Formats: sequence, C-alpha cells, structure tokens
Amino acid sequence: MPRAFFKYIDSTDKTRPRDLVRPDDTVFRIAQLTDIHLPGEVELTTRLRDLMSTQRSLENISHELSAISNELGHHYRKNRRLYTNLLKKTLIGLRRLGVDHLVITGDLVHCGLATEFLDVRGALEVTGWWGEDKLTVVPGNHDRFNLYEKVKGESMESFFSVVTPRQPRFKVLPSGVALLEIDSNRDPVDDRHHLERWLPNTVGRIYPEALDWIEGHRAGVEGMRLVTLIHHHITSDWYPRRASTLGGLMEPADGVDDLLSAIELVDPYSVILHGHKHDIMPVDYSYKTHQLGAPGGFAESLRLNLIDFDTHGQHILTQVQLRV
Ligand SMILES: [Fe+2]
Repeated sequence: MPRAFFKYIDSTDKTRPRDLVRPDDTVFRIAQLTDIHLPGEVELTTRLRDLMSTQRSLENISHELSAISNELGHHYRKNRRLYTNLLKKTLIGLRRLGVDHLVITGDLVHCGLATEFLDVRGALEVTGWWGEDKLTVVPGNHDRFNLYEKVKGESMESFFSVVTPRQPRFKVLPSGVALLEIDSNRDPVDDRHHLERWLPNTVGRIYPEALDWIEGHRAGVEGMRLVTLIHHHITSDWYPRRASTLGGLMEPADGVDDLLSAIELVDPYSVILHGHKHDIMPVDYSYKTHQLGAPGGFAESLRLNLIDFDTHGQHILTQVQLRV
C-alpha cells in the first residue's frame, strides 16, 4: 500500500480518498520532487573560509553571511548516507503510487560536485526511474553553480539531460500531456550576476530567446495539457517575507509575465511546478489561471506533489509526505 511509504497531506480535491491509491479515472500521474540538495562532502565552513581569504569585500558584508546561512547550511550535511537512503525509499514509494513520470524541479545537489550528481543519478537508476520517458529534470541554481570551485567541476549535462537558459524543450508524454522544461538560471557564462562570485543564490531569469523558442515550437504540442517546469519561484505572496531575505536575491524570477504569456498560447491553464524557495506552498495556491506546485525543500520537508490527469484533461494536485 502506498500509505506505508507516504502520508496524505492535502489535495485540491477534498473529497478524494486519502489512501493515495491511483484513482481509476487517472490516465497520467506525475510526481514532483524538488530541491533535494544532496549534500557534498565539502564542509560549508571550509568554503566560506576560502572565500574570506580571497575576497576582501566579504569583510564588509559578514553580517549578510549570517543571514544567508540558512540557505547555505544543510540539515543533512553530516548524514549523507541516511539522506540518500531516504531518497531511495521515496523513489521506491513512487512506484507503489503508480506514478508514470517523475519531475525534479531543480537543486538536485547542493554544491554542484560530480560525486553528488552521481549519487542522485545512482538512486534514480537503482529504483527504476532512469530514462527520458520516466524522468524529467530542470537545473536549479545549486546544480549550475559549483559551490566549491577549487574542486574541478563538470557541468550538470555530464550527468543529466537538461535544457539551457536560452533553449527550453517540450517533452510530449502519453495521454495528451506535455512538459515544458525551462532553465531559469542566469546564463553562467555570458550573463553572470555579480553576486554569483560568492553566492549560489540567484534571481531566476527568463531570456527573450527562450520565449522565442516556445513561440517557434508550440505547434508541436497544440491542444495538449501543459505542465511547465521551472526552478525559480514566480510569485512572492505564498511564503513568509523574512527580514533576513537578502536584498532582492530571493525575489521571483525576472521575465515571469512574459513566460506566462508564451505558455498561455499553448495551454491557458498550464500547471506550473517549481522549487527554489523551500517553503511549502498550499495545494490550492494559484496565480492568474495557473495552478502552482512547490512542495518545499525535500531535505527539510520530505514532501512531494502528485498531479493526476483524468480522461477529460482535468488535473488534481495532492501533496504527500514521506514516512520516516
Ligand atoms: Fe535553488
């Protein structure tokens, strides 16, 4: 039974049985996992000390470093093996839930190191989730930013098939559902944010080239239900506004309204799944005509979303939590 793995939290359909068994009228079931932040072996303090020695300017902003420690710190940093096992349990549980396709909306890893990517990939492979037809991943800022640059990095592309900031991708799934994969990170080569020299924590950005690409390719997914996947959040009224929020860095992605205009030509009611902010979004939250989904940082909340499409193309979003 799925309930042995997961606990029901809430659903957009309050009448739905809480046993989490895949409903008979579901033709396609997507699971969303986000912000896994699989920890690297490099201690954060080491990284910060290195930065302090090379970046004089950091002395002037040391008070801000404490403000961002929550973002950089990692609950499970010292419990890498335990955390990887929780991830594997989740992935096995998703098979019991009858999930057809798994999406991960970024920040799979914490430091952007090869060993971390290999661990996540290994967990997906041994639990049967590896493959284009079963898995879709979009990059988060931690996947794109090597937190420990003294260790030679390999880009995420060495381990996962992912899109780039200026070129998204449509993936057609069975049962009239299509995914739009967006890389909402700033281009790390041509358009690096000045703060990214020392912070892996950026405002997302939607590039005009990405919008052009959507316009040029939308005929291929015409008439389908669209699920848009993006790492950065697109609204700011669903999470607590904390004083520690560093000037602008955790604001919604730039260019969101243009992105909405582009996707609405495909599906005016496109579901939008994202992560980045580790707060848990209420299941009934929507923005304009769009249902949004963000189940919180997995390391902190161990939650995920299920999105069930029925024969009429209607969707139900249900949030569940791993039992530990
Ligand atoms: Fe992020």
